[in-house]
Amino acid sequence: EGFFTYDPGFMATSSCQSAITYIDGGKGILLHRGYPIDQLANHSNFVELAYLLLFGELPSKDEYENFERTIRNHTMVHEQLANFYKGFRRDAHPMSILCGVVGGLAAFYHDHLDITREEDRRISAIRLLAKMPTLAAMCYKYNIGQPFNYPRNDLTYGENFLYMMFSNPCEEYKINPVFAKAIDRIFMLHADHEQNASTSTVRLAGSTGANPFACISAGIAALWGPAHGGANEAVLNMLDEIGDESEENIQRFVDRAKDKDDPFRLMGFGHRVYRNFDPRAKVMKETCDEVLSELGMADDPQLKIAKRLEQIALEDDYFIERKLYPNVDFYSGIILKAIGIPTNMFTVVFAVSRTIGWISHWHEMISGDYKIGRPRQLYTGHAQRDYPSK
Ligand code: CMC
Repeated sequence: EGFFTYDPGFMATSSCQSAITYIDGGKGILLHRGYPIDQLANHSNFVELAYLLLFGELPSKDEYENFERTIRNHTMVHEQLANFYKGFRRDAHPMSILCGVVGGLAAFYHDHLDITREEDRRISAIRLLAKMPTLAAMCYKYNIGQPFNYPRNDLTYGENFLYMMFSNPCEEYKINPVFAKAIDRIFMLHADHEQNASTSTVRLAGSTGANPFACISAGIAALWGPAHGGANEAVLNMLDEIGDESEENIQRFVDRAKDKDDPFRLMGFGHRVYRNFDPRAKVMKETCDEVLSELGMADDPQLKIAKRLEQIALEDDYFIERKLYPNVDFYSGIILKAIGIPTNMFTVVFAVSRTIGWISHWHEMISGDYKIGRPRQLYTGHAQRDYPSK
């Protein structure tokens, strides 16, 4: 019955055609709709990048303003949705809450879930993009027992997220422009990365005709793992565990990462596609230096450990031979921590950023010809046998 290629981990399988993002892992190149990520990170902003990813071209001034206004009109979530949060334990991991509430969004938009209608697809995309920061900040507020903040439409996308995270009714919250710039960059650098595990999950779920809220919720679940989006949280936990910046101590952890009998890996190192420096990591490292020096935290002990660790690993034959370089998440956690975002919210921030990538891929797939994703397997179980007679 036919011939199937066995390709565990999809090391050699293109699952779709896509015009959104191009990666050359050998050369360390990442392009969104043809534009290099470093140029976008330095000259564009997250909302403009979101438009580019979703619609294929940079917006004109009018298109940009219109898009931004439309996003602002959809930042609030239905009051009933707040009740969903209250069903969770206060100490629930925010990623578990996020998986639930994003899937739950579908329950509020039954009248606009006809994925064959362009208008319904577009409004769902806008709703997801606009509401993700609100939902994410609500996860944090619920965790720490503070009241939820409503979004403020006079703020930019990134500022609004910071405001909803950190403002409380007792004192005025002043948005630090350094933080606002940094969070916008973090959003941009995580916005899309072609067929990674979570995006492939979104496409697979979407290929069944499932509604976009359900698909993005599936993507969030796939992102949560430490080998994917959970890596930024794992990096900070690792830097904490390493603890001191002495050469011998850091070397001990590098040696552990090389030891095949030890499950310890250098989190934030290595990538399935990049066999050269991750271009996002370069910009992230620069941003990290900028943010910490502007905050007078250039001597931050975790930053020192991270830099020394990177240096030692990059000179080590094990990492050189396997072409293991720091990835996007090696420095993002240090920036997030400096902004005041707690470690367990790091992957949630990644989910907020990646939502536009997920939606763009879902939209691209649903707008074209697609088939239900249905891989086969190599069966390794019993041959046919008879049920024992009793
Ligand atoms: N520390 C130590 N050794 C490593 C590491 C690491 N971080 N990453 C890979 N290796 C070794 C691995 O043991 C293997 O060695 P050998 O050939 O001797 O068996 C070789 O390098 C190839 O690794 P692999 O696991 O076959 O590579 P993969 O493409 O399946 O995995 C990865 C890629 C990202 C899951 C892996 O590098 C990893 O676990 N890194 C740490 C987690 C991490 O930082 N993830 C974030 C990825 S970027 C953000 C995102 O897109 O989500």
